[in-house]
Amino acid sequence: MKTNPVIETMLGHKSIRKFTDQTPSDEVVRIIVRAGQQAPFASQYYSVLLSRNRKRNPWKAPILFTICVDSHKFELIMTRRNWKLKTNDLTLLFFGIQDAALMAENMVVAGRSLGLGSCFLGSAMFRAEKIAKEYDLPTRVFPLVQLAMGYPAEDPPERPRYPMEFTLFEDKYAKLSQNTISKAMKQMDEGYLAQDYYRNARAKIHLEGNRKETFTYDNYSWTEHICRKWGQWYPEPKELLEQLEKRGFNIAKKRKTA
Ligand SMILES: Cc1cc2nc3c(=O)[nH]c(=O)nc-3n(C[C@H](O)[C@H](O)[C@H](O)COP(=O)(O)O)c2cc1C
Repeated sequence: MKTNPVIETMLGHKSIRKFTDQTPSDEVVRIIVRAGQQAPFASQYYSVLLSRNRKRNPWKAPILFTICVDSHKFELIMTRRNWKLKTNDLTLLFFGIQDAALMAENMVVAGRSLGLGSCFLGSAMFRAEKIAKEYDLPTRVFPLVQLAMGYPAEDPPERPRYPMEFTLFEDKYAKLSQNTISKAMKQMDEGYLAQDYYRNARAKIHLEGNRKETFTYDNYSWTEHICRKWGQWYPEPKELLEQLEKRGFNIAKKRKTA
């Protein structure tokens, strides 16, 4: 396969959850955020919060970025230009999440190219109001995801991904045969089992309701794990909607215009 330093950096990605004591310099932090900013954008609908509070950061990471969807800044520009938002919040959030996610992943890759490791934390959106208080966020700024970063103190193996035929569909979405599904599941499950990932992470999700536990760490793997997540958690959008509303976003309503 054709390769080069950028491809190698990307293909060598692994989430890092243990960090050395070394503190990334201001210059390194700025370069990472600059590389993040240079991601393609629809509206630069984001802001990045930074915490160097190693004691409080997850995994005692020297750096914690919180990537936010930010309508506040943009609305200040609109006011200066004597405009008001007409676009509804759901549409703005879809665009904003894309802007923020592209920026965040650019930061991951930039960090890795400079020898830093990182790991996302998906819980920020459920703790949006708490994070907002901590960072004194204005309304219309929504913490989307956090990214812990620092110099790696571990070197885990690369985690598997789906096979290409389960990912890339040229011209037409493929008819997914049972065989293709089995192959995709096998690649993921055997990949994680070979690394003893869930045993090491002690990360088996508890079964709710009447289902009986039949898995041990010898056969509990990624597809079972991900099914337990999305087969049991968050049946209601309420929690997230509440966080969004508290931050001034209302995704179900047409915007009132003057
Ligand atoms: C949106 C998002 C949220 C994530 N949240 C967490 C998290 O809360 N805790 C964690 O340990 N890893 C989290 N991860 C990291 C994933 O577990 C990790 O990327 C995935 O298992 C693949 O492993 P790899 O990054 O080492 O290739 C998150 C990743 C993403 C993209």
